[in-house]
Amino acid sequence: MPVITEIEDLKRIYKRRVPKMFYDYAESGSWTEQTFRENSSDFDRIRLRQRVAVDMEGRSTSSQMVGRDVKMPVALAPVGLTGMQHADGEILAAKAAEKFGVPFTLSTMSICSIEDVAENTSAPFWFQLYVMRDEEFIANLINRAHQANCDALVLTLDLQILGQRHKDIKNGLSAPPKLTPYVIADLATKWRWGIQMLQTHRRTFRNIVGHAKDVDDVSSLHSWTAQQFDPRLNWDTVKNYRKQWDRKLILKGILDADDAKKALDVGADAIVVSNHGGRQLDGALSSIQVLPQIMDAVGDKIEVHLDSGIRSGQDVLKALAMGAAGTYIGRAFVYGLGAMGQKGVEEALRVIHSELDTTMALCGEKDVKNLGRHNLLVPKDFEGDWA
Ligand code: GLV
Repeated sequence: MPVITEIEDLKRIYKRRVPKMFYDYAESGSWTEQTFRENSSDFDRIRLRQRVAVDMEGRSTSSQMVGRDVKMPVALAPVGLTGMQHADGEILAAKAAEKFGVPFTLSTMSICSIEDVAENTSAPFWFQLYVMRDEEFIANLINRAHQANCDALVLTLDLQILGQRHKDIKNGLSAPPKLTPYVIADLATKWRWGIQMLQTHRRTFRNIVGHAKDVDDVSSLHSWTAQQFDPRLNWDTVKNYRKQWDRKLILKGILDADDAKKALDVGADAIVVSNHGGRQLDGALSSIQVLPQIMDAVGDKIEVHLDSGIRSGQDVLKALAMGAAGTYIGRAFVYGLGAMGQKGVEEALRVIHSELDTTMALCGEKDVKNLGRHNLLVPKDFEGDWA
């Protein structure tokens, strides 16, 4: 096995092994990709405060996310089409998360279904919901997640219509891929991916194919979103979901303090400060840049999580020190999955954990729960002076 010392190592192998269409799907932001880039580069603007001669023995990264014990406050984010990055990808990622002791979140737009993941794991996982026009289908989906023992529903609020990602259109993104001459030429160098894919029967959107009606092209994310996703979703709808779901409710896609207050009003258990990995509103601020104003608005009243831009344990530490109670990795685990399946996701978690643990120690902290602004050097203009 190659020596993996950083997430970038997994990304390099991932790029070699996975068809370009799916690499591009994960590695894109919408339009100019400004927000996608700044999600990561804004983490680099924050510096860490080194402290010395502090007893570093007996460190702990353990914490809780929505009441669940976690080995570190880093959940696996919901990522569409994960089962196209590697055969049975969602099952493998969920197994890696379970083994490591962090939550796995299954996307509505996954390849493996809720039932597939439930049958192959024992830890409860979280289910991410996109609201669709077909109310009966959604009620059924929520019921399936409940039956499968999902202990949190992660309701995504920032994708009722799809932000354009140029490469997906140019590549003709679909699951399974259509075998055009270009795709066949690409697959010729990705034979390992192809062989593994031929060995599974899970190659389409199994949460929805056979359950939802009126979609012309069942293999296309674009068709699903255009025809099925409900653009009418509003805070009253969110309130209804709060009533229907009796376990933890996490609202994902909050990027504004006013919306954070609304999430509080509907009785959510947590919010995820997120711009969908820079895949939706290009030109929006990075998640880490808006975190301080959201903490000021609701930080003492609701659990605040953050995703978008996290590629290292240092990034996790910065988000936690800025006030987040939990974080999510999406691309960072997908690189590992595409590179080497379950083992690769385990490696991604190991790398991030080790970076978090060592960096925490060098900041003079022994417990992840004690991280705070005192560990950071944040530029005075970090939040920006926007009119
Ligand atoms: C969601 O499923 C996405 O593609 O960002």
